[in-house]
Amino acid sequence: MSPVKVGILGLGTVGCGTLNVLRRNAHEIARRAGREIIVTHASARTLDKPRPCDTQSLRLTNQPMEVVNDPEVSIIVELIGGTSLARDLVLQAINDGKHVVTANKALIALHGNEIFNAAQQKGVMVAFEAAVAGGIPVIKAIREGLSGNSIQWLAGIINGTSNFILTEMRDKGRDFDSVLAEAQQLGYAEADPRFDVEGIDAAHKLTILASIAFGIPLQFDKVYIEGISNITAEDVSYATELGYRIKHLGIAKRTAEGVELRAHPTLIPYRRLLANVDGVMNGVLIHADAVGSTLYYGAGAGAEPTASAVVADLVDVVRTLTTDPENRVPHLAFQPDSISEIPI
Ligand code: NDP
Ligand code: HSE
Repeated sequence: MSPVKVGILGLGTVGCGTLNVLRRNAHEIARRAGREIIVTHASARTLDKPRPCDTQSLRLTNQPMEVVNDPEVSIIVELIGGTSLARDLVLQAINDGKHVVTANKALIALHGNEIFNAAQQKGVMVAFEAAVAGGIPVIKAIREGLSGNSIQWLAGIINGTSNFILTEMRDKGRDFDSVLAEAQQLGYAEADPRFDVEGIDAAHKLTILASIAFGIPLQFDKVYIEGISNITAEDVSYATELGYRIKHLGIAKRTAEGVELRAHPTLIPYRRLLANVDGVMNGVLIHADAVGSTLYYGAGAGAEPTASAVVADLVDVVRTLTTDPENRVPHLAFQPDSISEIPI
């Protein structure tokens, strides 16, 4: 079979990580996908910027819509971020009958209902594993591994930057701003780091997790949100003295009245598993009726951990290309055209 041609929009931390992983593991990836996957086109804002990936063989442009519109490209990987341009690009790709892979949690949390509706009408896939918990395949775990369960609640450390800051403050006595600057330098933080430290990024991810876990529409506006920006060195050391760790959690719980959604700092007794998820690592604990509790742990941000999830989605999409569009299972468990509000 001929190779599948992919266009990557955005060659930053995740875009370059994805290109590097696809090239380094090309042989194994092709075996698993059943076809070779090659990146032929890419876009970035600044063309002559030095990058940690080789762009020589790519058709590179600073006009991402050119990549979307190129008839050679059959899968678009959106790694630009933000919700305005990214929404236009993704909707255009879907309208052109192209499959989409994205790591953009803000886009999915805020515009996912519209995007999945459009994708369902066009019979294309929109995959977003990298949007939640970086390299941890937690979306696949819920959709596939836990598909026989009724999920009761989930609680996760789902922002790597916040967890990195809290861990460095506790273990090394470092100050908040210098750790945040390091997280930005390492490529963990969002373009606007307030999304990380004000809890917004975790709330985006929680919106997505809850939608898949409980089969409810994406409802970001229903999440109670509090970040870690007011946590002081004193808070961290008092917590340690009392036998607790401060962790920023996203919590989704099924209740009699509906689904409760909240993202905020919590005190966790230091012996608990989640209390020991440190640094940029993420951990998601899920409680379901048949299996009981399961815990998913791994790198929550960074170039190659995130690329791992992007490539896994590409492999999934390529495998699905041989499936009749009528028989494809949509990525979200609710019917996007019959969205109803749920009490939260
Ligand atoms: P970066 O800022 O590193 O990269 C963004 C890329 O998009 C850059 O190549 C940039 O071009 C390009 N770009 C930005 N704005 C425009 C524009 N207006 N027109 C054309 N190109 C543009 O972001 P990340 O790689 O860190 O993140 C990408 C996505 O992945 C985001 O949605 C993020 O939330 C998500 N994500 C990130 C993770 C991480 O660890 N970093 C983990 C999980 C998800 P140029 O390089 O020229 O500036
Ligand atoms: N800024 C995000 C984080 C990237 O720190 O978790 C991964 O989604």
